[in-house]
Amino acid sequence: MAVLLSGRGSNYLALQDAVDDGRVPAEVVLVLSNQPGAQGLERAKERGVATKVVPHRGEPSRAAHERKVLAALEEAKVDWVCLAGYMRLLGRDFVEHYTERILNIHPSLLPSFPGLHVHEQVIEHGARVSGCTVHLVDAGLDSGPIVVQRSVSVLDDDTPETLAARVLEQEHLAYPEALVRLLGEPWRVEGRRIVFG
Ligand code: GRF
Repeated sequence: MAVLLSGRGSNYLALQDAVDDGRVPAEVVLVLSNQPGAQGLERAKERGVATKVVPHRGEPSRAAHERKVLAALEEAKVDWVCLAGYMRLLGRDFVEHYTERILNIHPSLLPSFPGLHVHEQVIEHGARVSGCTVHLVDAGLDSGPIVVQRSVSVLDDDTPETLAARVLEQEHLAYPEALVRLLGEPWRVEGRRIVFG
C-alpha cells in the first residue's frame, strides 16, 4: 500500500509500526507527499521506505496534479491507498481508479464535524463526545462508508490542543484496526454500510 500525507506523519508511523510488527498483513511500498517539507517523509526514510514528492504547487489544475500522483502509485503497484493527513481533496477520477481501496482518517465522529478545524468546532458546539473515524474515500468530503470509529470524552477544560492529542492516541489505534479488518475478513459495501462476513 501507499501512504499519502502532507504533514507530520504520526498516523503513518502508527501504520508502519503495525505493519512491521506483523499486526497488519501489508507492506508500505511508498510514502507520497504533496508537501516537499513534510515531516512524514523523513520518518518514512528513517524506516527505509521509498518516498516521493509530487508538489501540487505549480500544477495547472487539480486533475493535472492527481494524474502525476496516480502515475506514481501505479508505478509502485499499490493495491491500497491510505490517506494520513493528506490535505487535498481527491477528484472523481482518482477515487474511481481505486474504488473501495482508499482509506482516510478524520479526527471526529463522522458525519459530525467534517472538514477542517475539527476540534475547535467540537468544543464550540459543546459536544460531549468526540473521536476519530477511518472511512473508505468517495468523491465527497469525509463522506465514504465508515470502517472504524473510536470515541473520547470531551472534557470541560479541553482546548483544541488537548482534545486533538487525546483523539490522536485513538487515531493511532483505529487506523491499524481498520486495515486488520479490511484485509483479514470478507466485506462488502451496502449503501453507506460496510458489511463484514
Ligand atoms: C490527523 O489528526 C488526521 O486525523 C487528520 O490529519 C491529522 C494528521 O496527523 N486527517 P499526522 O500527520 O498523522 O500526525
